[in-house]
Amino acid sequence: VAHRQLFQRAENFCQRYNLQIPVVMAPMAGACPPALATAVCQAGGMGACGTLLMNSAAIGDWAAGVRAQTNGAFQLNNWIPDPPPDRNAQHESSVRDYLGLWGPEVDPAAGNKATPNFAAQCEAMLDARPNVISSIMGLYDDDYVGRMKAAGIDWYATVTTVAEARAAVDAGADVVVVQGMEAGGHRGAFNADEAALRLAGLFSLLPAVVDAVDVPVIATGGIGDARGVAAAMILGASAVQLGTALLRSPEAAIPAPWADAIATANPEDTLATRAFSGRLGRSIAGEYAMAASGYTDVTAPEPAPYPVQRNLTAAMRAQAVAEGDINRMQAWAGQSARMAEAKPAANIVSDLWRDAQVLLAGD
Ligand SMILES: Cc1cc2nc3c(=O)[nH]c(=O)nc-3n(C[C@H](O)[C@H](O)[C@H](O)COP(=O)(O)O)c2cc1C
Repeated sequence: VAHRQLFQRAENFCQRYNLQIPVVMAPMAGACPPALATAVCQAGGMGACGTLLMNSAAIGDWAAGVRAQTNGAFQLNNWIPDPPPDRNAQHESSVRDYLGLWGPEVDPAAGNKATPNFAAQCEAMLDARPNVISSIMGLYDDDYVGRMKAAGIDWYATVTTVAEARAAVDAGADVVVVQGMEAGGHRGAFNADEAALRLAGLFSLLPAVVDAVDVPVIATGGIGDARGVAAAMILGASAVQLGTALLRSPEAAIPAPWADAIATANPEDTLATRAFSGRLGRSIAGEYAMAASGYTDVTAPEPAPYPVQRNLTAAMRAQAVAEGDINRMQAWAGQSARMAEAKPAANIVSDLWRDAQVLLAGD
């Protein structure tokens, strides 16, 4: 019976979005070109776009680019803004000096760079009429949720604790995306100050959330092979969401040193750090990340808050990409990085689900 329920959950999820397989591409700001989403859609999964760094026109262009290739379902994702950061000129100056040791001298005005307008991005997401709009780092307000629902768009809320899951469902989330601390990229804790405090792993968090809420749950974080997919389904997920597992595909088109580092990173070779953006995120534990986090350099200043730190590190990060230097690159990666395969994204997702079904069928 449990076995039948598991496949029924997956089936219900797929039917709702006309998918063939219960596999969702993770929204990955800066690493989600239309070609990657298209490939996942063509394999029968759900595509995704992280709009964090995009303006309205780019969001519309992304959706049009995917629709030109497939009529598959996709989600558009955004970060709920944190309260404005507390700025400290003296501290930022010490961070700039420190970054100057790792990369180009940092422009004194770098920390003031404006981020794309959140409200405008939200309008552009609605205008693009995706199947799903997802959130991370918090919840959309009632007005926006109402407009989403009126347009027939489902809301997926990323959560990192049981309390966040309950709050998301109370606010109207149709689905919760449970993000374990294994996840590559930023941790979606609603409160930035508490991101490092409640680092629940997927094996504990997923069944706890499944028991606590009555909406479908998507599992994400460290799902790297068919065993992980099957385990997530047994723990109560209706679908799995893959980030790092897709990053070595040709469609992801990330810098080669980053893809190569993913291929060899054991779970202990990634690090949750504020060193790149000021928000806690999991990356390859390169020399800069280790030093700026205080592990190999006790003199390193605390990173500035998000998004100031992201702006301050921009010059170093750009230089690292230009020079192919993995030790200073912002190389997001989850703890199951090493399982990621260098093959077309469509094959990654369809092979994972095919092999997971074999494991789940038990014969
Ligand atoms: C390069 C990269 C960028 C990401 N950007 C976003 C983002 O913009 N919005 C978001 O909700 N999650 C983002 N994430 C987190 C993913 O949605 C997902 O939680 C994570 O990739 C799952 O863990 P995994 O990488 O081990 O599969 C990002 C992850 C990566 C690896």
